[in-house]
Amino acid sequence: MSRLLILTSLAFLLYLPNTSATLALTNLQTLLQQHPLPQTPAQNTPSHAPWSHSPHCTTSHHLAHLGQKFCIYTSNTTGPYGLSLILKPRDAVRATAHLSDNPLESFLTKRQAESMYLGGVGGGQAWKVVDVPGKDKGVVATRRIARFETVMVDQAAVVVDMDLEKAVMKGESNAMLKLAVERLRAPGVIRDMSAKHNDGKDEEEVEGEEGRLEEDVMKTNAFGSTVVDVSTRALFPLISRINHACNPNSFVMFSRAGVSMAIKAYRDIEEGEEITISYLLLGIPSHKRTHLLSRWGFTCTCALCSLPPQEKKASDLRRVMIAQAEEKIIQLAESYDLPAAIALTHESIQMIIEEEVYPMLTDEYAMLAMLYLEHGDRKSAEKYGKLAWGLLGDLGFLGVGEEKDRQTFTLERLLGNMGKLGGDGSGGKWKKGEV
Ligand SMILES: *[C@@H]1O[C@H](CO)[C@@H](O)[C@H](O)[C@H]1NC(C)=O
Repeated sequence: MSRLLILTSLAFLLYLPNTSATLALTNLQTLLQQHPLPQTPAQNTPSHAPWSHSPHCTTSHHLAHLGQKFCIYTSNTTGPYGLSLILKPRDAVRATAHLSDNPLESFLTKRQAESMYLGGVGGGQAWKVVDVPGKDKGVVATRRIARFETVMVDQAAVVVDMDLEKAVMKGESNAMLKLAVERLRAPGVIRDMSAKHNDGKDEEEVEGEEGRLEEDVMKTNAFGSTVVDVSTRALFPLISRINHACNPNSFVMFSRAGVSMAIKAYRDIEEGEEITISYLLLGIPSHKRTHLLSRWGFTCTCALCSLPPQEKKASDLRRVMIAQAEEKIIQLAESYDLPAAIALTHESIQMIIEEEVYPMLTDEYAMLAMLYLEHGDRKSAEKYGKLAWGLLGDLGFLGVGEEKDRQTFTLERLLGNMGKLGGDGSGGKWKKGEV
């Protein structure tokens, strides 16, 4: 029964042998042989290859991380912006594998990629960045977007080990950030993301201290991402233009390498509609949302937050109940009251549908499959297992194209993956920083 305890979020399936972004983290030697870098005359080959710059390091004097080195590793030819990683040296060795992480391969079939970039009927770029009243900038759909379509892909520009800020003084970590940005192909793109930068003040005035601007950009725009098993803050410049909503029409998905990201629609989106994602866990009630969102300096203006008090209360109540149901279901299952656990899961599904936080359904369906199986009702278990699997496939968690086709459903496969992988309750894709 302990399997149930691990079943908390979509994250549990993120590591199915799925996306083609999955690069084996083997040794560096093999990798470099497989992906030969552009040939340069031997005498000019910099010793710091595959990086474009010599790594710049700092050493922690903080007790908990004493002597730990963190270095900036930049490949200024990776992706649209270049990529700077601030990592411990041993992690950086493994991260070299991710320099070839191609978001198109992770999230789109060849045909979809062509349609996105070359256009054609129903294809082409589906969004534009616009000024949104009261929200600075935002992204709106320029055509109808179908449910589950991949709307946007992006690659990280800056990735920072979360240990850095604990390990070194603030001034030092900011100086590291500043250099990491400076070494990119287009540092201006990154600096322009700071609200401070756009205040009309000149740079000197804004910065005060070296790296303040870069720190501000990371604080207000970075997503949490796991890269080479390290918890990092990762900056995805394009995707960070997308605003938050408490019942968003889209969601984010990371490549397995953690350095590419996609935005996918989970319902149809009409032309002119703003594209939104949730920066928070789905299903958080309004007072908590307000508190958590204050970190990004804005108040919630999405439909749910602007509801009349009565309806807002009803929505909050459902969200609290959805959250509490999960814990209660596990308790019931552990005490082998399976019929009650099953009934409560069905109720929870109803509330999730009413709240329109559909991605949460994958967990609930999988939960039902497990509960029915424990209860000896294999037929129902299969039914809900298939629903979970189908939704995971639609959402893109089972890969794309042929790869997805290979992921045929079996109940054992679904449940086996649940047990193996612990969800962290964050959906594996928490939005814009730690909450
Ligand atoms: C990348 O870095 C190298 C080494 O500093 C530099 O010579 C080159 O111009 C840079 N390329 C780009 C595209 O920024």
